[in-house]
This record gives sequence, C-alpha cells and structure tokens, in this order.
Amino acid sequence: MKIGFFDSGVGGISVLYQALKIMPNEDYLYYADTEHVPYGVKNKEEVKSYVLEAADFIVSQGVKALVVACNTATSIAIDDLRARYDLPVLGMEPAVKPAVCRLKGMACNKRVLVTATPMTIKEKKLQHLLHQWDQKHIVDLLPLPKLVTLAEAGVFTGEEVDNYLQEVLAPFHLKDYCTVVLGCTHFNFFKDGISRFFDDDAVIIDGSLGTVCYLERILYERGLKEKNDGQIEFYCSGQLVSGAKQQFYQSLLQRLEQLDN
Ligand code: DGL
Repeated sequence: MKIGFFDSGVGGISVLYQALKIMPNEDYLYYADTEHVPYGVKNKEEVKSYVLEAADFIVSQGVKALVVACNTATSIAIDDLRARYDLPVLGMEPAVKPAVCRLKGMACNKRVLVTATPMTIKEKKLQHLLHQWDQKHIVDLLPLPKLVTLAEAGVFTGEEVDNYLQEVLAPFHLKDYCTVVLGCTHFNFFKDGISRFFDDDAVIIDGSLGTVCYLERILYERGLKEKNDGQIEFYCSGQLVSGAKQQFYQSLLQRLEQLDN
C-alpha cells in the first residue's frame, strides 16, 4: 500500500524527498491541492473544508498512512483528520523546540527567527509551542506568504526572490539570529537564498526529517513497512498528473537533492 502525502501545493514535495531518502522502498501518493493553493492567506473554515476534501480523496485511494506535509493544514485540521480516519495521520509543526533547545546550550544572546504562513503564525498550535518553549522570548515571527506563490510558479532563485527577502528581512538585525526555522514546507526550496542573509554559523532548520523519522517508526511498529519500487503518483486536486506537470514535480525532487549537497 502507498503512503499518502498532502500539501496545498509543491511544499510537501520537500517532505516526500526526505521520505524517499529514508524509505526508498515504499510507494507514495502525493496530492497537491493546486486548485486552492495558497492556504496560508485564506479563511480558516474554507481551508479546513479543502483539507478534509483532499484527505477523503487520498484515503479513498487506499493509503496505509497520511502525512499532512503542510504546517498550515496541520494547524487547523489535524485533530479532525485523526478523528476521521482509522490510520496513522502525521502532521508538521514549526521546529520551535529544537531551535530553542539548540540555543540553551550556548552562552550567547542570539535569537531564533520562525518563518511560516500568516495562518500558521496566527493559529493556536504555534502559539502553544511558543508558550511551551519560548519562555525567554528569544523567538521572533515572520510571515512569508509570497514564497508560496513563487514556489508554485517554479521561481526559486533570482531577482524577485532576492528582492522580496531583502524587503521582509530589512527590519531585522540579522546578526542576532543563529537559527532560522522554516515553518512552511514551501520555504524549503529557498533554503540557499534565505541562508545568504544570515551569518555562516546560523543554521536553517525545518520539521520534515523529524516527521519522516516518526513516520518510519510508526510503520515499523505496526508492521506496515514494505519492499516496493519507490513509485510516486502525483495528483493535483483529485486529478492524476502526467506529462509536463509530472516532470515539474520530479524536477523539484532534483532541486532538493542539489540543495542537500
Ligand atoms: N506548505 C504549506 C505549509 O507548510 C502552506 C502553503 C500555503 O498554501 O499557504 O504551511
């Protein structure tokens, strides 16, 4: 059986990429809700209905686990999804805990910058994480909605990206930050562009590896691991994808591999 991965668009491909590295012998179904992307700037109830519709479709295809490879969708619908299906449902959350814990071991006054969509920043899940882990108030928040639109257009580098990052980062004293959290899966495609603004010893982290390691553990514990060919089926809002769109998605896996090296 396949493992279902879901995102509003291309962002979750960065989580799928980690899964392919760790579990190359599983088969995957990747679902991008391209009809409704971006989620992060929309109304909460509207997004929740899109997420439930997409997840119903994915589960109807017969998957053994569902990974909500989207911080925004996780923030607003993970409890509903877990109550709705009798299979493991995993989500994503901004990596606030590892970012803050990294700083605890250092004797310095450095700060953490958490980037996410406007909806993730407003929602209870992130606020709860901050309440739990950021007692010293060393975390600052930055919404980056335009990176979602740029990623959907396949624009990951160049003047438009650089100008946008320059503009949104201008109010921050960038030397203060030693950790940047990518709290939206779309942002993983811009890791190189973002890291250029920070000191060489600053690290850029995200939650995808943590989610995938947890997925592997759950599959193992439930005896659900398989030896398949590592096939991937891509869907866009309920339609199986082929041709140029499929090639575009495959090319994104290659971009992530380049960023990794
Ligand atoms: N990739 C998504 C996330 O991790 C959301 C992007 C969007 O649709 O706004 O939050």
